[in-house]
Amino acid sequence: MKALILGGGAREHAIAWALSRSKAFDEIHAAPGNGGIAEVAYLHGANPTKGDDVLALAKKISADLVVVGPEAPLMTGVPDALRREGIPVFGPGIDGARLEGSKAFAKTFMLDVGIPTPSFHICRTVAEAKEALSLRHPPFVVKADGLAAGKGAFVVEELAEAMRLCRSLLEEGALGEAGRTVVVEDYIAGREITAMLLIDGKNTGLLPLSQDHKRALDGDKGPNTGGMGAYAPVPWASKALIGRIEEIAHGTARALKAKGIDYRGVIYLGLMVDRDERPWVLEYNARFGDPEAQVVLPICDVDWGEVMLSVAKSESLNAIKAKDCAVGVVMASGGYPDRYDVGFEISGLEEARKTEGVLIFHAGTKRDGEKLVTSGGRVLTVVGLDSSLEEARAKAYRGVSAIGFEGAHYRRDIAWQALSPKTPGKGGDAR
Ligand code: GLY
Repeated sequence: MKALILGGGAREHAIAWALSRSKAFDEIHAAPGNGGIAEVAYLHGANPTKGDDVLALAKKISADLVVVGPEAPLMTGVPDALRREGIPVFGPGIDGARLEGSKAFAKTFMLDVGIPTPSFHICRTVAEAKEALSLRHPPFVVKADGLAAGKGAFVVEELAEAMRLCRSLLEEGALGEAGRTVVVEDYIAGREITAMLLIDGKNTGLLPLSQDHKRALDGDKGPNTGGMGAYAPVPWASKALIGRIEEIAHGTARALKAKGIDYRGVIYLGLMVDRDERPWVLEYNARFGDPEAQVVLPICDVDWGEVMLSVAKSESLNAIKAKDCAVGVVMASGGYPDRYDVGFEISGLEEARKTEGVLIFHAGTKRDGEKLVTSGGRVLTVVGLDSSLEEARAKAYRGVSAIGFEGAHYRRDIAWQALSPKTPGKGGDAR
């Protein structure tokens, strides 16, 4: 069978890697893919956000499955266009993808169906935002309603700063249409954790829990990024906490079904665990997390081709267990997430791969003749796999130290909350 993957980041490379190991698939295709995905898949120039282009490509290569990696094709309804033509798709239709596309929709959904989420107000005017902020204490949380490439959520100490933000979003259009509505919500202190749940319309399967590191610098300092590293599973998650998270995840799936949404794919729950070990849903995404996918997919004891196909076809879905631990370190271009230069030669990949249990997933890379060069902000995710998280982390950093490109930046403390809880952050507050 043939699979077509939409997208071109490290998450999509991890999906391509997982499918290339599947007994179910003998040909993998990707649009647009990247320099690393090209090692396991045929690349195509089709625009992954255009339903007609993707449909034409899927028909041309006789795809038996289309897997949607990033959110953009979900928002433009690519899965709906493919399903109308009978092509199995891993990824929800527009009705399910709204849980990621609109924070106001997601918060209203959670309130409606009893999913624990911080108390909130949806504001369309500065006067409404002023009223919502006046009801709260610092720190203040302000979120743009729509998609903003990870740049739409703000936590600020000063009321004046929160008001300035609301004005710039609502009146000055700082984030375009995405910020013309904002959500003001209560701040919850605690530790962030990611849960990803497979849903095939009838059945569900929770994947091992993971934790992302969103800030650019060690100690959870510096600006927010798309994610600088992740690890899985999460040893500090107690049985009781996992039970509560399972309840929330399965409650979400039941609510989707009750609302008539035939969700087929993965739903991402971004949770905050408070000091009393209560999990609160901060956000939903309608896809695998990046970099969470790079650490979760390789440790699952399944044939991912069979699993994704059965999700797409709503055939069967069983519990998914972790067989290993993984730590993933993102290597980024110097200056990311702000301005950065590209086109620098990447060296040492072969050397890094010599360590058993090291996987390298490409994001911002491309071929330039014989050379592999940087082409984006996040360049690579280097993953270490082992039966212990400590050794997985050691392997990941051994891989990282073998790789070089001008200006390379990475965090040196990925998995600190799992392996050295007292350093280097303050009091376990990851937000
Ligand atoms: N790791 C956060 C995200 O994928 O949105």
